[in-house]
Amino acid sequence: MPDRISFAFALLLLAGLLIPPPAPVSGQVTTEEYAERRSALATAIGDGLVLAVGNAAPPQDYIPFHQNSLFRYLTGFTEPDAALVMVIEGGETTEVLFVNPRDPGRETWEGLRMGPERSEAETGLPGRSVTDLTAVMDSLLLHHSELRLVGPYQPGAPVMNDVTQRVDALIDQHDDVRVRPINQQVNALRAMKSEGERELLRRTVAITVEAHRQAALRLAPGRNEFEIQAAIEATFRRYGSERPAFASIVGSGPNSTVLHYNANNRFMEDGDVVVIDIGASLGGYAADVTRTYPVNGRFTPEQRDIYQLVRDAQAAAEAIVAPGVGMLRMNAEASRVLAEGLAELGLIESPEAVFEVAPGQFAPQLRLFYMHGLGHGIGLDVHDPAPEPLEPGAAFSIEPGLYVRPNLLDEVIEDTPANRRMIEAIRPAFERYRGIGVRIEDDYLLTEEGLEWLSPAPREIEELEALLATPHADEDRNEEWIEWYRQHLAGN
Ligand code: GLY
Ligand code: MN
Ligand code: MN
Repeated sequence: MPDRISFAFALLLLAGLLIPPPAPVSGQVTTEEYAERRSALATAIGDGLVLAVGNAAPPQDYIPFHQNSLFRYLTGFTEPDAALVMVIEGGETTEVLFVNPRDPGRETWEGLRMGPERSEAETGLPGRSVTDLTAVMDSLLLHHSELRLVGPYQPGAPVMNDVTQRVDALIDQHDDVRVRPINQQVNALRAMKSEGERELLRRTVAITVEAHRQAALRLAPGRNEFEIQAAIEATFRRYGSERPAFASIVGSGPNSTVLHYNANNRFMEDGDVVVIDIGASLGGYAADVTRTYPVNGRFTPEQRDIYQLVRDAQAAAEAIVAPGVGMLRMNAEASRVLAEGLAELGLIESPEAVFEVAPGQFAPQLRLFYMHGLGHGIGLDVHDPAPEPLEPGAAFSIEPGLYVRPNLLDEVIEDTPANRRMIEAIRPAFERYRGIGVRIEDDYLLTEEGLEWLSPAPREIEELEALLATPHADEDRNEEWIEWYRQHLAGN
């Protein structure tokens, strides 16, 4: 018998040796990682009292709840009306997560709440009912002269929800307490992406690249922008994305020159380009990828000129990405390419030429056609913190664009003698390129191994035209319904 036991014991030991160590967690943020984030915050800010505020339940219009990114970053908790309290003392942190209590009546309508018990099991944070928050904070504020706040909360700003209402009341009652927002300190941590975050970003961008392919396969003159948006957002959901990370942009013809166009209800025409700027949100992580396509499958010579220039600018910025290089330097590189190209096309007088923004104030003529930044961090927010200059762990977009707004010369530019001279010089080229908008946007990770291009959707002119030449993917389109829309609602 003892032999048997020792044999079994030896087997167990052996099995222990043979079982591989757990694979590194990827594609998720573990409770340990959330704890590390809070502990990194505690180290960064030192002793004191922290209150992080979650978002409120939406008002009674039944839109989906969305947690704010700062709170989600620190807790992973995605139910409404929650708050996190941290007391840091001598390097030791006591934490409590305040959450909505269970309420079977409400849960009939809204689904199960975690309540303090399950939230504790899920997040590893001691749980308590949010109805206790005021009493707990009241007593803590007797012993602290400063309250450090995390979340989209401004003392004295309009009350957003139950939690902010409680915070406002607390601050009123403890008017000797100094209130200090510390979102910046949380954002500094958010700038560097962990392995789990990187994998979520790879996935959400991959879904977005597939959505671009589905969109491209449906482009044709006579189709409506909303048909394309539908294919995009169906693809997002199909692969588990919770929602678009921002309002999907499908801007054709003149709409291609409107930076944040999102009505998406114009019938596309032969000869248009369409700017499609979209991003899935997966596990809370946002993608942000733009392509510009010729609706009929072939770019005109003028569209090619603008497109190639934007693509060259993006390539120039991409080529210098490295640790230690900042967005400003990348933008200077892209801007140099754009300005030289625009001058060659006759759209600006010279790469250095300026125009009068307001009487006596001048800006580069490039700004008439390229009026946004080159890129931004991506993460829980579509515009997420990124290290500046870049370091391994950065996730970001590069998105140059050129927009020849149809009304630029006649409505946008100040009427001054200097501007009149410029307008006369550039009008012939302007008329040739009028109404063309092009943006190309890709997502990247800078890792310890180098630059990782997350969004390899076709982006060279020949690649786009080849993709658009393949058969359409919308055989089940109901012509009659679309025709009804055209006759009754288009243009309304
Ligand atoms: N889609 C928003 C942006 O490109 O920044
Ligand atoms: Mn975008
Ligand atoms: Mn962007």
